[in-house]
Amino acid sequence: MATVRIDQKRRALVRAVPDTYTDALSRYFGTGPTSIENARLTHSKYVEILESNGVEVTILPSDNNHPDCIFVEDQAIVIDGHVLLPVAGHESRRGEQPPIAEFLANSLEGHQIYSMHSPAMMDGGDILRLGDLFFVGRSTRTNDKGIQELKELLDRLGHELRVIDIPSHALHLTSIASAPSDNLILVPEGYISLEAFGDLPNGCELLVMPEKEVYGCNTIGLENNKVIIAEGYPVVKSKLEERGFETITLDMSEIRAADGSLTCCSIFY
Ligand code: GLY
Repeated sequence: MATVRIDQKRRALVRAVPDTYTDALSRYFGTGPTSIENARLTHSKYVEILESNGVEVTILPSDNNHPDCIFVEDQAIVIDGHVLLPVAGHESRRGEQPPIAEFLANSLEGHQIYSMHSPAMMDGGDILRLGDLFFVGRSTRTNDKGIQELKELLDRLGHELRVIDIPSHALHLTSIASAPSDNLILVPEGYISLEAFGDLPNGCELLVMPEKEVYGCNTIGLENNKVIIAEGYPVVKSKLEERGFETITLDMSEIRAADGSLTCCSIFY
């Protein structure tokens, strides 16, 4: 999930699909990736969609030692130009971070970069931003010490953080929820308590989707009321269109197979 507001989505970092992608982790909703060619095709369409919507995209080279390296969202948390480098929640993914950190340090000159230290751990995929309000999933990848370090940064920036418990059968908060705009959160029935989101700011809404469309709840909101959604989730699509969004659909099957969703594949900065 992007940790930037919709109006801050001007630049995105992505990472090319490695030759080892079929070894990527798939322990939640993924069935295991089978086609690197299809994953590359999806990835290039993803980049095309971002670029054709005015986002400047940089593609970092892949790293064959890290089959999950396309899921850059987990490796750096960019908030208002500041960067928190988390300790990834899965040990096999910890070596993905250095080139991402180096790229962001060079691109966000003058801003602070904070490094989290073990035993704190967090995946960027556990963070959801709704305007200037933040939510973090306490999950198998994000622990209380990690949440405390995120809170310290958000306190300095004047933003509130609310913690949401993620059931152990779900990967991240953003595997099951997203904010297609700065005043709307999509969330499926049956995964998390809606009360956990607390009172939302005036004009903001939780839009509850059928449980079977949980994967479709991960979306990328862009400027001009556009939103990228995964193909195959008709209720998500129609409910967003009813609310005036223009949806852009992408077949995510080969990314989903590695427990990846739309937001996992980019960092807006
Ligand atoms: N395959 C994505 C992850 O488990 O982190």
